[in-house]
Amino acid sequence: MRTEAPSPDSIVWFQNKFVPLAEANVNILTHALNYGTGVFEGIRGYYDDHQNDLFLVRPQDHYQRWKRNATILRIEIPGTARELCEITAELCRRNRFRSHVYVRPLAYKSSARIGVAMDQNDAFAVTVVPFGDYLESTHGLKAGVVSWRRIEDTAIPSRAKICGAYVNSVLAGDEARRAGHDEAIFLTESGHVAEGATCNLFMVRNGQLVTPPATDNILEGITRSSVIDLARNEMNIEFVERSINRSELYVCDELFFTGTAVEVAPIVQIDHRPVGTGSIGQVADTLRTLYKDATRGRLFGYRHWLWPVYVGNRSEAVVDELELATSHA
Ligand SMILES: Cc1ncc(COP(=O)(O)O)c(C=O)c1O
Repeated sequence: MRTEAPSPDSIVWFQNKFVPLAEANVNILTHALNYGTGVFEGIRGYYDDHQNDLFLVRPQDHYQRWKRNATILRIEIPGTARELCEITAELCRRNRFRSHVYVRPLAYKSSARIGVAMDQNDAFAVTVVPFGDYLESTHGLKAGVVSWRRIEDTAIPSRAKICGAYVNSVLAGDEARRAGHDEAIFLTESGHVAEGATCNLFMVRNGQLVTPPATDNILEGITRSSVIDLARNEMNIEFVERSINRSELYVCDELFFTGTAVEVAPIVQIDHRPVGTGSIGQVADTLRTLYKDATRGRLFGYRHWLWPVYVGNRSEAVVDELELATSHA
């Protein structure tokens, strides 16, 4: 799916300043553009009409993951996760967003020169755009196992959202859609189920909720961990992390994807075969509702996941003074 281009007047955080998107540009020789040497994140915010507030979902966890994983590319992201959350909330306020949003933090190697060697020139940006459904999954998705294999940790670690690694996801998604599916499922080189092109995968089989472990070359998804918490705390179902064989996908009761963009998306068809009864399963449906309520601030026990943008936050003046200690921006 494609999203609309944001307005050039919208405000973004770029090189330690709030600037219009039209001014946030890079040189054609930028290292990350040529070699894929960036690390990005994806965070959602949900606007709730009843509470008149926009809730960023687990932004501190996303920023901690961004900071940690960027070190794989020897990029030191300036500022604490908390300060990055404050900048993000401020971006939403400056853009007067009163809709669901998607936040795209990006850290990248910014030298404008030819040559693969890494250097110390890093740059950082945070962009926020209005955002709706990523995949229309109300009636369930069709998924297909693709011929592309998930990149191995020994090639490009998939636990980090490394820009260049997403060629793997783009190829998989393209193959899946051309074959009539909505989303791809990757196998690892050893033949185990890894994840979707842009999301993690869960299966319900023999009364257990099962998902592949981090060692099967998945991104350690934050929605995955939210769904595990919800299943453990709110549902009477045993949870198991273990490798999954491809043929189990054909004989299981339920399958669903999780991810910041896809949210909780039930799968009703796998490789042109019905999943279970061929309609949305009860576990996926319950988790989808729980996740929706939790991320809109309607489940009291999960309010700590949310960062409210408009209520009880810092004023513009305070954030104006917020300068991240950056040595290489
Ligand atoms: C390859 C891949 N797997 C899984 C996920 C889900 O991760 P999260 O729930 O942290 O968004 C994403 C989305 O970012 C992804 O790109």
